[in-house]
Amino acid sequence: MEIKLAKTAGFCFGVRRAVDTVYDQVSKGGSPIYTYGPIVHNEQVVQDLEARGVQVLKDQKELAELAKGTVIIRAHGVGRAVYEQLEQGGISYVDATCPFVKKIHRIVERESGNGRQILIAGNPSHPEVEGIRGWCQGEVRVLESPEEAEKFIASPGKKLCLVAQTTFNYNKFKELVEIISKKGYDIIVLNTICNATEERQTEAKRIASEVDAMIVIGGKNSSNTQKLFEICKKECENTYYIQKLVDLDLKTASSIRSVGITAGASTPNKIIEEVQKHVRNQL
Ligand code: F3S
Repeated sequence: MEIKLAKTAGFCFGVRRAVDTVYDQVSKGGSPIYTYGPIVHNEQVVQDLEARGVQVLKDQKELAELAKGTVIIRAHGVGRAVYEQLEQGGISYVDATCPFVKKIHRIVERESGNGRQILIAGNPSHPEVEGIRGWCQGEVRVLESPEEAEKFIASPGKKLCLVAQTTFNYNKFKELVEIISKKGYDIIVLNTICNATEERQTEAKRIASEVDAMIVIGGKNSSNTQKLFEICKKECENTYYIQKLVDLDLKTASSIRSVGITAGASTPNKIIEEVQKHVRNQL
């Protein structure tokens, strides 16, 4: 009997790094710890941190009320104004912005500084996009759909630079690039999409095609977990979608010789390990 655990299951590199940073700070003790926004979209993690005294700051208004403590900036990153506010307020902070996001900040800062208008392929209300916007000088446009790209008109003579939110869909990005490119502007296009999601999906597909049963762990509302489930189900009819170990009702028929496990981007390691251990004991 074999268990195949996906290497890419659960947190991506950037989120893991940010979550580890918070636990690290907690273990050091001392001043109150805050995260600027929830560190990850997973209730259990946020609750566990809350129980250890970590509080979540919603916005710059709440940040302004802070007199002491350490603020941790999450993987999505924030705009320049938040850093300035932290520095002016003399609040200590730990920057856990994912390096891939940081790279986008540096690009838009430089290119908008050189006079280019920044276009961001992404979801305008996503915190990562807000953060990227916050490093641009001058006008910024966020494009989410082909229709928006079609309608876009740059000011005469304006040079452009197009980047993408790290989790933007690659095919959609290609489509937007094609539309904008046809308009004949002087434009620099930088594909800043991170491949963590794609790698997770590719590995899940491969494992699901090799095993007799597949377990996908993640929140019911998590769109990336739903997608993983769909991909796995196509390869392996016997695919289970669970949020926690208690949801698992694995039929251990003698025909099951191998089980694969993967998990969505916000599933903590602890849950993945629990499931793995349980399956191992059951088989
Ligand atoms: Fe994760 Fe950083 Fe990519 S947060 S999805 S590794 S950009």
